[in-house]
Amino acid sequence: MRAAIITGASSGIGRQFALQLYNKGEADFFYIVARRRERLAALKDELGGNAKIIEADLTTAEGIGSVREALEGDNPSVQYLVNASGFGKFGDYSQLSERDVSDMIDLNVKALVLITHMCVKYMPRGSHIIQLGSGSCFTPLPNFNVYASSKSFVLHYTKALKYELKPLGISTTAFCPGWVKTEFLGIATEDTSVRTPKKYSPLLDAERVVAKAIKDAKKGKVMSVTNWFTKLQHVMFKLLPDSILSRAWLSMLKKPNAGDK
Ligand SMILES: NC(=O)c1ccc[n+]([C@@H]2O[C@H](COP(=O)([O-])OP(=O)(O)OC[C@H]3O[C@@H](n4cnc5c(N)ncnc54)[C@H](OP(=O)(O)O)[C@@H]3O)[C@@H](O)[C@H]2O)c1
Repeated sequence: MRAAIITGASSGIGRQFALQLYNKGEADFFYIVARRRERLAALKDELGGNAKIIEADLTTAEGIGSVREALEGDNPSVQYLVNASGFGKFGDYSQLSERDVSDMIDLNVKALVLITHMCVKYMPRGSHIIQLGSGSCFTPLPNFNVYASSKSFVLHYTKALKYELKPLGISTTAFCPGWVKTEFLGIATEDTSVRTPKKYSPLLDAERVVAKAIKDAKKGKVMSVTNWFTKLQHVMFKLLPDSILSRAWLSMLKKPNAGDK
């Protein structure tokens, strides 16, 4: 039996990965991880009941421990690991709460690394790890700083891990989409007193971007960039100095509570 472990499976991109890997016959059994049990139960039904629900807050040691326990108990053969749990908050250093800063790092960085480490021993040759990076991982982004920095970590971590896992025949892909229509943006902009982007365009469809990410992972690509706009961004980020890019980003943010221009 080929298993898939998917964190952040209760919503958006993670949920799409579970459904598409199931529908494409890429995995037969799913470990679906998130905090909202009722959402995971509904997803389990959509996966034909072939899933184990792991209700876990991955910012905590207990949450990480429950994933470890499930794997140790079942000793599965893991064909796909998708680390999709994550969140971001807009705001500058003085506006973000200590809790949000700490949780962003614990979830986007620490949990992703710990779960990857614990899964590798269950992964056979030809299996795939997909880590959720972001289009925001390529350059410093003031007022989205901690989130973007956490995703830069994911990109570098994934690129280096590729070489470490090559002898084991396991591929690693950093999936770096632009803005995607999920619950992410609502959570990122909950605080209306901070500066946020004037526009989120193009706003991508989770189903389409996930289909592309699965294709890229199967090709063994170390980075999956979803559309022409993110590809263009990536090239520009390589060519232009950070000082220009960070200022350009700031010019795309609106004043708190101001409408789009
Ligand atoms: N949407 C975008 O524009 C975009 C762009 C680039 C990258 N990404 C990345 O894509 C990934 C998925 O985001 P999404 O767009 O699908 O957003 P989403 O719809 O908000 O999904 C986030 C997932 O993370 C889970 N999660 C949040 N906090 C958690 C915690 N403490 N412990 C365990 N699970 C937790 C949520 O489940 P529960 O709330 O049930 O715990 C949910 O399943 C994230 O890593 C995000 O950074 C998103």
